[in-house]
Amino acid sequence: MSQQVQGVISRAKGAPVETTTIIVPDPGPGEAVVRIHACGVCHTDLHYREGGINDEFPFLLGHEAAGTVESVGEGVTDIEPGDFVILNWRAVCGQCRACKRGRHQYCFDTHNAKQKMTLEDGTELSPALGIGAFADKTLVAAGQCTKVDPNASAAAAGLLGCGIMAGIGAAINTGEVTRGDSVAVIGCGGVGSAAVAGARLAGANRIIAVDLEDRKLEWARGFGATHTVNASRTDPVEAVRELTDGFGADVVIDAVGLPTTYEQAFYARDLAGTVVLVGVPTPQMRLELPLLDVFGRGGALKSSWYGDCLPSRDFPMLIDLYTQGRLDLDGFVTEEIGIGDVEEAFARMERGDVLRSVVRL
Ligand SMILES: NC(=O)c1ccc[n+]([C@@H]2O[C@H](COP(=O)([O-])OP(=O)(O)OC[C@H]3O[C@@H](n4cnc5c(N)ncnc54)[C@H](O)[C@@H]3O)[C@@H](O)[C@H]2O)c1
Ligand SMILES: [Zn+2]
Ligand SMILES: [Zn+2]
Repeated sequence: MSQQVQGVISRAKGAPVETTTIIVPDPGPGEAVVRIHACGVCHTDLHYREGGINDEFPFLLGHEAAGTVESVGEGVTDIEPGDFVILNWRAVCGQCRACKRGRHQYCFDTHNAKQKMTLEDGTELSPALGIGAFADKTLVAAGQCTKVDPNASAAAAGLLGCGIMAGIGAAINTGEVTRGDSVAVIGCGGVGSAAVAGARLAGANRIIAVDLEDRKLEWARGFGATHTVNASRTDPVEAVRELTDGFGADVVIDAVGLPTTYEQAFYARDLAGTVVLVGVPTPQMRLELPLLDVFGRGGALKSSWYGDCLPSRDFPMLIDLYTQGRLDLDGFVTEEIGIGDVEEAFARMERGDVLRSVVRL
């Protein structure tokens, strides 16, 4: 058995996305079908469409989603139909070397659905990050469903499924920001603004937001930035140093992912400070740094996949903070759109008009 629903696919590199009929199989052992309520538009979806992630077209896009479990396959015990869940792309295996060492956040063998969703002609789809949630329903591994408080708004909750978790986690998990730290965040889209919010949650006392757009900087202030730098007018490295008594920040988070922004992050950091790369580079990008500076400046150069999160630990905790009014997830939802509006949402993202457009289904 299977069902036909509408989904947004990217058929070929650079081509506009299209809404079409997709076939969702019934859940097999260890799988679940989820009725999607809301799914945010992340820059990673655009990377997929541009062929920046891999060449496995056609992609079923969308991966920042919340919904209700519709049906589960054999052997699924952690979730049941009717549960309100956030979809995650880190369903840990429990068996790999990382998991066995208790470092589940680095799991090397995360689970996705074994069966494939397809087009009507049988062409297999590659769901973005193993999710594919610009669709009325999607098929995932049961472990990709994290149960949270159903009182949370689906649009806000879904954002924790990727970019907002990645940003918050880049600050609190990877960067280990703590009370009294100075933090700079380069690029304040959804991910970077979430890093600002994470730095505030962790108790950083100086939070410097850097972007090219004044509108983004204004929003970042709302999430907790104490200072802002427009890098189209001011050298961000100089500015961050000036705002940190000449030292540089303890933690600098690159939420853009370009060689230039990485180099800025590297030099805007105090001696023995930490750089966190959370923006995703493309395969062509190269970095050149004097190795003596890498050595001489000390500290740590880290990358943050998904904010080093553990969905089962971090999603319910952050949803609690949200329902208590201590984490403004609603503030990331700039607009709610229909399933046919993803292409325009990409354009608005590229123009810098939005933090997150969220598709309501
Ligand atoms: N590591 C992860 O797990 C993870 C998860 C989700 C997204 N991402 C990645 O994070 C990055 C940001 O995603 P997003 O959804 O926030 O994108 P976005 O397009 O909403 O935000 C990017 C921001 O960077 C700003 N910017 C661009 N160039 C800049 C520069 N030279 N200096 C300063 N600011 C600059 C833009 O104005 C914009 O505000 C993307 O590369 C995305 O793929 C990573
Ligand atoms: Zn594992
Ligand atoms: Zn994402």
